[in-house]
Amino acid sequence: GTPNFHPKQPFILYKGAWIAKSLVRGALAMEQHFKSRPTDLLLVTSPKSGTTWLKAMIFATLTRTSYPLDQHPLHTHNPHQCVTNLERVFSTGRRQIIEAIPSPRVFNSHLPYSVLPQTIIDSDCRIVYVWRDPKDVLISMWYFSGKIMGGADKIATFEEVYNSFCQGVNNYGPIWSHVLGYWEESKQRPEKILFLKYENILQEPVKHAKKLAHFIGCPYSEAEENQGVVEQIVELCSFGKLKNMDVNNNEIPSMSAHNISPSYFFRKGEAGDWKNHLTQEMTERLNTIIEEKFKGSGLMI
Ligand code: A3P
Repeated sequence: GTPNFHPKQPFILYKGAWIAKSLVRGALAMEQHFKSRPTDLLLVTSPKSGTTWLKAMIFATLTRTSYPLDQHPLHTHNPHQCVTNLERVFSTGRRQIIEAIPSPRVFNSHLPYSVLPQTIIDSDCRIVYVWRDPKDVLISMWYFSGKIMGGADKIATFEEVYNSFCQGVNNYGPIWSHVLGYWEESKQRPEKILFLKYENILQEPVKHAKKLAHFIGCPYSEAEENQGVVEQIVELCSFGKLKNMDVNNNEIPSMSAHNISPSYFFRKGEAGDWKNHLTQEMTERLNTIIEEKFKGSGLMI
């Protein structure tokens, strides 16, 4: 059979993607009931690619004039409380929550482009897509599953998870299809999809914060730039800052974060941790698979 590791429940293959059963139900309910508004903003990622960070960034950027930044809700709410996962809410049948949110609404989703409901594709709502070196996604995923399970080796060995990842079997995977789906579409509709890479944001956070603000329709004014507001938003959402806030640095499972402890979403927050985990052979094999999949697309790891 197909290797199929998931911390909580097995995946099923749905429209070419490996998705947990309950979330397939969520995706189907979205297709049926979700009505996208032109002002909606949707953050899409493959899990472990920077979702928590970008939730904070988008939310802080949008609401920056509503609060003094030292009293911003991000000090008292974890990023998953600020931005809701669409397929998860729909999987629980509580879609009224979504309908009741005043515009502009911000959501996130891990669904591949091919699984997005037509309303999102057809409407003028905008999508921020973030991807990350799949090798680091794998490492991040490994530790995250381990925390959830109370020991990663309870599910499978690292080698098994690695092999499965190389075959495209991971949460919402194959990861290359996920990335390519949004990449190709962002080339066609750059006004609809902002396509970003985790490692690039880490390297030049201020530049990307400005790009993000512009794309989501609330660019920084000259006065804000002169006052250092961009740097303040970047700092508020930085790994070190968020990780150490009481609201994030605790083991109390948060309902909004699918019953997972907020602290599990903050591990290292760096690029290249795969170097500490993958052998040269493992690195080359995964690189070759991804380069082959990306061939001709203009995308590189
Ligand atoms: P690592 O496990 O490599 O540290 P997601 O939010 O999609 O689940 O991804 C989690 C990954 O993003 C983890 O990676 C986590 O440490 C990292 N992360 C969380 N907050 C971050 C931040 N503010 N800046 C950079 N990386 C962050």
